Amino acid sequence: MFEEYTNGNLPNLKEMVAKNYENIDLSTIPEIKGVGILTSGGDAPGMNATIRAVVRAGTKAGFKMMGVTRGYHGLWKGEIKELGHRDVSETLQRGGTFLMTARSKSFETPAGVLQGAKMCNVFGVDCMVVIGGDGSFRGARDLARIGIPVIGIPGTIDNDVACTDYTIGYDTAMNTAMEAIDKLRDTASSHERCSVIEVMGRHAGYIALNVGIATGAEIILLPERPLDMKEVVREILDCRNKGKRHYIVIVAEGAGNATEIAKQIEEATEIESRPTILGHLQRGGSPTLRDRTMASLMGIHAIECIQQKKLNRLVCYRDGHITDVDIEEGLSVKKSISMEDVERSSLLS
Ligand code: F6P
Repeated sequence: MFEEYTNGNLPNLKEMVAKNYENIDLSTIPEIKGVGILTSGGDAPGMNATIRAVVRAGTKAGFKMMGVTRGYHGLWKGEIKELGHRDVSETLQRGGTFLMTARSKSFETPAGVLQGAKMCNVFGVDCMVVIGGDGSFRGARDLARIGIPVIGIPGTIDNDVACTDYTIGYDTAMNTAMEAIDKLRDTASSHERCSVIEVMGRHAGYIALNVGIATGAEIILLPERPLDMKEVVREILDCRNKGKRHYIVIVAEGAGNATEIAKQIEEATEIESRPTILGHLQRGGSPTLRDRTMASLMGIHAIECIQQKKLNRLVCYRDGHITDVDIEEGLSVKKSISMEDVERSSLLS
Protein backbone atom coordinates (compact mmCIF):
# COMPACT_ATOMS: atom_id res chain seq x y z
CA MET A 1 0.00 0.00 0.00
CA PHE A 2 2.87 2.40 0.76
CA GLU A 3 5.27 1.70 -2.09
CA GLU A 4 3.90 4.50 -4.21
CA TYR A 5 4.68 6.99 -1.44
CA THR A 6 8.22 5.93 -0.69
CA ASN A 7 9.93 7.85 -3.46
CA GLY A 8 9.72 11.10 -1.53
CA ASN A 9 6.24 11.93 -2.81
CA LEU A 10 4.31 12.33 0.39
CA PRO A 11 0.60 12.92 -0.19
CA ASN A 12 -1.51 14.70 2.40
CA LEU A 13 -3.36 12.50 4.83
CA LYS A 14 -6.77 13.29 3.36
CA GLU A 15 -5.59 12.09 -0.02
CA MET A 16 -4.25 8.86 1.48
CA VAL A 17 -7.48 8.34 3.35
CA ALA A 18 -9.63 8.95 0.29
CA LYS A 19 -7.49 6.52 -1.65
CA ASN A 20 -7.22 3.77 0.92
CA TYR A 21 -9.66 3.97 3.76
CA GLU A 22 -12.94 3.41 1.92
CA ASN A 23 -11.47 0.34 0.32
CA ILE A 24 -10.22 -1.33 3.47
CA ASP A 25 -12.18 -4.46 4.13
CA LEU A 26 -11.12 -5.70 7.55
CA SER A 27 -12.15 -9.26 6.75
CA THR A 28 -9.44 -9.34 4.08
CA ILE A 29 -6.64 -8.10 6.36
CA PRO A 30 -4.04 -10.88 6.36
CA GLU A 31 -3.75 -13.01 9.43
CA ILE A 32 -2.45 -11.02 12.38
CA LYS A 33 0.78 -12.49 13.70
CA GLY A 34 2.63 -9.52 15.21
CA VAL A 35 0.99 -7.15 17.70
CA GLY A 36 2.70 -3.94 18.79
CA ILE A 37 2.01 -2.01 21.96
CA LEU A 38 2.85 1.57 22.92
CA THR A 39 1.95 4.10 25.58
CA SER A 40 1.39 7.70 24.53
CA GLY A 41 0.58 11.11 26.05
CA GLY A 42 0.80 11.67 29.81
CA ASP A 43 1.71 8.56 31.81
CA ALA A 44 -0.88 7.13 34.18
CA PRO A 45 -0.65 4.62 37.04
CA GLY A 46 -1.79 1.26 35.67
CA MET A 47 -0.17 1.64 32.26
CA ASN A 48 2.40 -1.03 33.22
CA ALA A 49 -0.37 -3.34 34.38
CA THR A 50 -2.07 -2.83 31.00
CA ILE A 51 1.09 -3.61 29.03
CA ARG A 52 1.56 -6.74 31.15
CA ALA A 53 -1.98 -7.93 30.47
CA VAL A 54 -1.76 -7.26 26.73
CA VAL A 55 1.62 -8.98 26.43
CA ARG A 56 0.64 -12.02 28.49
CA ALA A 57 -2.80 -12.50 26.93
CA GLY A 58 -1.27 -11.84 23.51
CA THR A 59 1.53 -14.40 23.81
CA LYS A 60 -0.94 -16.97 25.14
CA ALA A 61 -3.13 -16.30 22.08
CA GLY A 62 -0.10 -17.05 19.85
CA PHE A 63 0.78 -13.50 18.77
CA LYS A 64 4.35 -12.22 18.57
CA MET A 65 4.21 -9.23 20.95
CA MET A 66 6.34 -6.17 20.34
CA GLY A 67 6.91 -3.18 22.60
CA VAL A 68 7.46 0.29 21.13
CA THR A 69 9.36 2.70 23.38
CA ARG A 70 8.61 6.45 23.69
CA GLY A 71 5.13 6.31 22.12
CA TYR A 72 4.65 7.44 18.53
CA HIS A 73 8.04 9.10 18.63
CA GLY A 74 9.67 5.68 19.11
CA LEU A 75 7.44 4.09 16.50
CA TRP A 76 8.57 6.69 14.02
CA LYS A 77 12.19 5.86 14.80
CA GLY A 78 11.65 2.08 14.81
CA GLU A 79 12.33 1.64 18.56
CA ILE A 80 10.57 -1.72 18.61
CA LYS A 81 11.54 -4.99 20.26
CA GLU A 82 9.90 -8.27 21.12
CA LEU A 83 8.31 -8.65 24.55
CA GLY A 84 7.76 -12.06 26.13
CA HIS A 85 5.88 -13.28 29.18
CA ARG A 86 8.84 -12.77 31.55
CA ASP A 87 9.67 -9.29 30.21
CA VAL A 88 6.59 -7.94 31.97
CA SER A 89 7.26 -9.58 35.35
CA GLU A 90 7.18 -7.27 38.38
CA THR A 91 5.44 -4.49 36.46
CA LEU A 92 1.86 -4.86 37.75
CA GLN A 93 2.42 -2.75 40.86
CA ARG A 94 4.76 -0.15 39.32
CA GLY A 95 3.64 3.39 38.45
CA GLY A 96 4.62 5.10 35.19
CA THR A 97 5.21 3.14 32.01
CA PHE A 98 8.34 1.07 31.46
CA LEU A 99 7.84 1.52 27.70
CA MET A 100 8.07 5.26 28.36
CA THR A 101 5.87 7.80 26.69
CA ALA A 102 5.99 11.06 24.76
CA ARG A 103 3.76 13.77 23.40
CA SER A 104 4.71 13.51 19.76
CA LYS A 105 4.03 16.41 17.43
CA SER A 106 5.72 14.67 14.52
CA PHE A 107 3.00 12.05 14.43
CA GLU A 108 0.36 14.65 13.73
CA THR A 109 1.68 15.15 10.20
CA PRO A 110 0.88 12.87 7.24
CA ALA A 111 4.59 12.16 6.87
CA GLY A 112 4.79 11.10 10.54
CA VAL A 113 1.81 8.76 10.25
CA LEU A 114 3.19 7.25 7.07
CA GLN A 115 6.60 6.77 8.68
CA GLY A 116 4.91 5.00 11.63
CA ALA A 117 3.02 2.70 9.25
CA LYS A 118 6.22 1.91 7.39
CA MET A 119 7.93 0.93 10.66
CA CYS A 120 5.01 -1.37 11.44
CA ASN A 121 5.64 -3.09 8.11
CA VAL A 122 9.39 -3.31 8.70
CA PHE A 123 8.93 -4.96 12.15
CA GLY A 124 5.96 -7.14 11.22
CA VAL A 125 3.51 -5.26 13.44
CA ASP A 126 0.15 -6.25 11.92
CA CYS A 127 -1.91 -4.50 14.61
CA MET A 128 -1.00 -1.79 17.11
CA VAL A 129 -2.39 -1.49 20.65
CA VAL A 130 -2.26 2.12 21.86
CA ILE A 131 -2.68 3.02 25.55
CA GLY A 132 -3.44 6.70 26.11
CA GLY A 133 -6.09 9.40 25.86
CA ASP A 134 -7.99 11.11 23.06
CA GLY A 135 -4.88 12.63 21.44
CA SER A 136 -3.22 9.22 21.32
CA PHE A 137 -6.37 7.70 19.84
CA ARG A 138 -6.43 10.30 17.10
CA GLY A 139 -2.91 9.14 16.19
CA ALA A 140 -4.16 5.54 16.23
CA ARG A 141 -7.13 6.49 14.06
CA ASP A 142 -4.77 8.03 11.51
CA LEU A 143 -2.77 4.78 11.42
CA ALA A 144 -6.01 2.81 10.98
CA ARG A 145 -7.01 5.06 8.11
CA ILE A 146 -3.95 4.05 6.15
CA GLY A 147 -4.38 0.38 6.82
CA ILE A 148 -2.63 -0.48 10.11
CA PRO A 149 -5.32 -1.98 12.35
CA VAL A 150 -5.38 -0.57 15.88
CA ILE A 151 -6.94 -1.12 19.28
CA GLY A 152 -7.03 1.72 21.85
CA ILE A 153 -7.10 1.29 25.63
CA PRO A 154 -7.98 4.41 27.67
CA GLY A 155 -5.16 5.40 30.03
CA THR A 156 -5.13 8.91 31.49
CA ILE A 157 -5.61 10.30 34.99
CA ASP A 158 -8.07 12.89 33.61
CA ASN A 159 -10.95 10.44 32.85
CA ASP A 160 -11.79 12.70 29.91
CA VAL A 161 -12.06 10.07 27.16
CA ALA A 162 -15.64 10.45 26.01
CA CYS A 163 -16.53 6.90 24.96
CA THR A 164 -15.68 5.34 28.32
CA ASP A 165 -16.92 5.88 31.87
CA TYR A 166 -13.45 5.05 33.21
CA THR A 167 -9.83 5.58 32.20
CA ILE A 168 -6.88 3.70 33.72
CA GLY A 169 -5.01 5.85 36.25
CA TYR A 170 -7.97 7.96 37.35
CA ASP A 171 -8.59 6.15 40.64
CA THR A 172 -4.94 6.19 41.71
CA ALA A 173 -4.58 9.89 40.89
CA MET A 174 -7.69 10.73 42.91
CA ASN A 175 -6.50 8.70 45.88
CA THR A 176 -3.09 10.38 45.74
CA ALA A 177 -4.77 13.80 45.68
CA MET A 178 -7.14 12.85 48.49
CA GLU A 179 -4.30 11.75 50.77
CA ALA A 180 -2.37 14.96 50.08
CA ILE A 181 -5.44 17.11 50.76
CA ASP A 182 -6.15 15.30 54.05
CA LYS A 183 -2.65 16.34 55.13
CA LEU A 184 -3.18 19.91 53.98
CA ARG A 185 -6.40 19.98 56.02
CA ASP A 186 -4.42 19.17 59.19
CA THR A 187 -2.19 22.20 58.79
CA ALA A 188 -5.01 24.47 57.55
CA SER A 189 -7.01 23.57 60.64
CA SER A 190 -4.09 24.14 63.03
CA HIS A 191 -3.50 27.63 61.62
CA GLU A 192 -7.15 28.49 60.87
CA ARG A 193 -6.24 29.05 57.23
CA CYS A 194 -7.80 28.62 53.85
CA SER A 195 -6.00 26.00 51.76
CA VAL A 196 -6.43 26.42 48.01
CA ILE A 197 -5.42 23.25 46.18
CA GLU A 198 -5.04 22.91 42.43
CA VAL A 199 -5.55 19.44 40.97
CA MET A 200 -4.91 18.16 37.45
CA GLY A 201 -7.53 17.25 34.85
CA ARG A 202 -6.61 19.38 31.86
CA HIS A 203 -9.94 20.81 30.57
CA ALA A 204 -12.11 18.50 32.67
CA GLY A 205 -13.24 18.62 36.29
CA TYR A 206 -13.58 14.88 37.05
CA ILE A 207 -10.65 14.73 39.48
CA ALA A 208 -11.58 18.02 41.16
CA LEU A 209 -15.23 17.12 41.68
CA ASN A 210 -14.66 13.69 43.17
CA VAL A 211 -11.66 14.66 45.25
CA GLY A 212 -13.61 17.71 46.47
CA ILE A 213 -16.49 15.49 47.59
CA ALA A 214 -14.12 12.95 49.19
CA THR A 215 -12.23 15.59 51.19
CA GLY A 216 -15.24 17.67 52.24
CA ALA A 217 -14.09 20.78 50.39
CA GLU A 218 -16.01 23.98 51.05
CA ILE A 219 -15.65 25.07 47.42
CA ILE A 220 -14.90 23.15 44.21
CA LEU A 221 -13.99 25.23 41.16
CA LEU A 222 -14.62 23.40 37.88
CA PRO A 223 -14.08 24.35 34.23
CA GLU A 224 -17.59 23.04 33.55
CA ARG A 225 -19.15 25.50 35.99
CA PRO A 226 -17.29 28.77 36.23
CA LEU A 227 -17.78 30.55 39.56
CA ASP A 228 -16.91 34.20 39.98
CA MET A 229 -14.68 35.27 42.85
CA LYS A 230 -17.54 37.18 44.50
CA GLU A 231 -19.38 33.88 44.97
CA VAL A 232 -16.24 32.19 46.31
CA VAL A 233 -15.65 34.98 48.85
CA ARG A 234 -19.31 34.99 49.87
CA GLU A 235 -19.26 31.20 50.36
CA ILE A 236 -16.15 31.35 52.58
CA LEU A 237 -17.54 34.18 54.69
CA ASP A 238 -20.84 32.31 55.08
CA CYS A 239 -18.87 29.31 56.34
CA ARG A 240 -16.93 31.50 58.77
CA ASN A 241 -20.13 33.06 60.05
CA LYS A 242 -21.46 29.56 60.74
CA GLY A 243 -18.40 28.84 62.90
CA LYS A 244 -15.90 27.27 60.48
CA ARG A 245 -12.26 28.03 61.18
CA HIS A 246 -10.48 26.46 58.22
CA TYR A 247 -11.43 26.08 54.59
CA ILE A 248 -10.56 23.79 51.70
CA VAL A 249 -10.93 25.13 48.16
CA ILE A 250 -10.26 22.71 45.29
CA VAL A 251 -9.42 24.24 41.91
CA ALA A 252 -9.39 22.14 38.74
CA GLU A 253 -6.39 23.28 36.68
CA GLY A 254 -8.80 24.15 33.85
CA ALA A 255 -10.75 26.48 36.16
CA GLY A 256 -8.02 28.75 37.46
CA ASN A 257 -4.73 29.16 39.21
CA ALA A 258 -4.41 28.28 42.92
CA THR A 259 -1.81 30.97 43.66
CA GLU A 260 -3.95 33.72 42.15
CA ILE A 261 -7.15 32.48 43.80
CA ALA A 262 -5.51 32.18 47.26
CA LYS A 263 -4.25 35.76 46.93
CA GLN A 264 -7.70 37.05 46.01
CA ILE A 265 -9.37 35.15 48.87
CA GLU A 266 -6.89 36.51 51.42
CA GLU A 267 -7.28 40.06 50.14
CA ALA A 268 -11.07 39.93 50.20
CA THR A 269 -11.60 38.02 53.48
CA GLU A 270 -8.44 38.68 55.53
CA ILE A 271 -8.31 34.93 56.12
CA GLU A 272 -4.75 33.69 55.69
CA SER A 273 -4.69 31.59 52.53
CA ARG A 274 -2.06 29.21 51.13
CA PRO A 275 -1.93 27.76 47.62
CA THR A 276 -0.72 24.23 46.79
CA ILE A 277 -0.39 22.89 43.28
CA LEU A 278 -0.39 19.09 43.48
CA GLY A 279 0.91 18.80 39.90
CA HIS A 280 2.71 15.70 38.67
CA LEU A 281 2.57 14.04 42.07
CA GLN A 282 -0.88 12.89 40.91
CA ARG A 283 0.58 11.00 37.96
CA GLY A 284 2.91 8.73 39.93
CA GLY A 285 2.64 5.92 42.41
CA SER A 286 1.62 2.32 42.57
CA PRO A 287 -1.81 1.77 40.96
CA THR A 288 -4.79 1.11 43.22
CA LEU A 289 -6.72 -2.14 43.14
CA ARG A 290 -9.27 -0.55 40.80
CA ASP A 291 -6.61 0.55 38.32
CA ARG A 292 -4.83 -2.82 38.42
CA THR A 293 -8.01 -4.77 37.75
CA MET A 294 -9.29 -2.36 35.08
CA ALA A 295 -5.88 -2.40 33.39
CA SER A 296 -5.71 -6.19 33.45
CA LEU A 297 -9.25 -6.77 32.17
CA MET A 298 -9.07 -4.05 29.51
CA GLY A 299 -5.72 -5.46 28.32
CA ILE A 300 -7.21 -8.94 27.94
CA HIS A 301 -10.23 -7.46 26.16
CA ALA A 302 -7.94 -5.77 23.62
CA ILE A 303 -6.39 -9.13 22.72
CA GLU A 304 -9.84 -10.76 22.51
CA CYS A 305 -10.84 -8.07 19.99
CA ILE A 306 -7.79 -8.88 17.85
CA GLN A 307 -8.50 -12.62 18.03
CA GLN A 308 -12.05 -11.96 16.84
CA LYS A 309 -10.78 -9.58 14.13
CA LYS A 310 -12.77 -6.77 15.74
CA LEU A 311 -10.21 -4.17 14.70
CA ASN A 312 -10.00 -0.38 14.91
CA ARG A 313 -11.82 -0.45 18.23
CA LEU A 314 -11.48 1.46 21.49
CA VAL A 315 -11.80 -0.64 24.63
CA CYS A 316 -14.14 1.08 27.06
CA TYR A 317 -16.02 0.66 30.31
CA ARG A 318 -19.72 1.37 30.05
CA ASP A 319 -22.57 0.69 32.45
CA GLY A 320 -20.38 -1.58 34.55
CA HIS A 321 -18.99 -3.68 31.70
CA ILE A 322 -15.80 -3.71 29.66
CA THR A 323 -16.73 -3.49 26.01
CA ASP A 324 -15.47 -1.82 22.81
CA VAL A 325 -16.56 0.76 20.27
CA ASP A 326 -15.50 1.68 16.73
CA ILE A 327 -12.60 4.14 16.94
CA GLU A 328 -14.20 6.76 14.64
CA GLU A 329 -17.45 6.60 16.62
CA GLY A 330 -15.60 6.66 19.96
CA LEU A 331 -13.72 9.80 18.98
CA SER A 332 -16.85 11.58 17.81
CA VAL A 333 -18.83 11.42 21.08
CA LYS A 334 -18.69 13.92 23.95
CA LYS A 335 -19.12 13.54 27.70
CA SER A 336 -19.20 15.82 30.70
CA ILE A 337 -19.25 15.59 34.47
CA SER A 338 -22.64 15.12 36.13
CA MET A 339 -24.08 18.54 36.91
CA GLU A 340 -26.36 16.81 39.44
CA ASP A 341 -23.28 15.66 41.36
CA VAL A 342 -21.91 19.19 41.15
CA GLU A 343 -25.11 20.52 42.75
CA ARG A 344 -25.10 17.73 45.35
CA SER A 345 -21.49 18.43 46.32
CA SER A 346 -22.45 21.86 47.65
CA LEU A 347 -24.97 20.32 50.09
CA LEU A 348 -22.21 18.84 52.24
CA SER A 349 -19.91 21.76 52.97
O1 F6P B 1 -3.39 14.38 30.72
C1 F6P B 1 -2.76 14.17 31.93
C2 F6P B 1 -2.19 15.46 32.46
O2 F6P B 1 -1.54 15.16 33.68
C3 F6P B 1 -3.18 16.60 32.64
O3 F6P B 1 -3.96 16.48 33.79
C4 F6P B 1 -2.28 17.79 32.64
O4 F6P B 1 -2.96 18.94 32.18
C5 F6P B 1 -1.20 17.40 31.64
O5 F6P B 1 -1.24 15.98 31.56
C6 F6P B 1 0.19 17.84 32.01
O6 F6P B 1 1.03 17.48 30.96
P1 F6P B 1 2.62 17.44 31.03
O7 F6P B 1 3.02 16.23 31.82
O8 F6P B 1 3.03 17.33 29.61
O9 F6P B 1 3.04 18.68 31.72
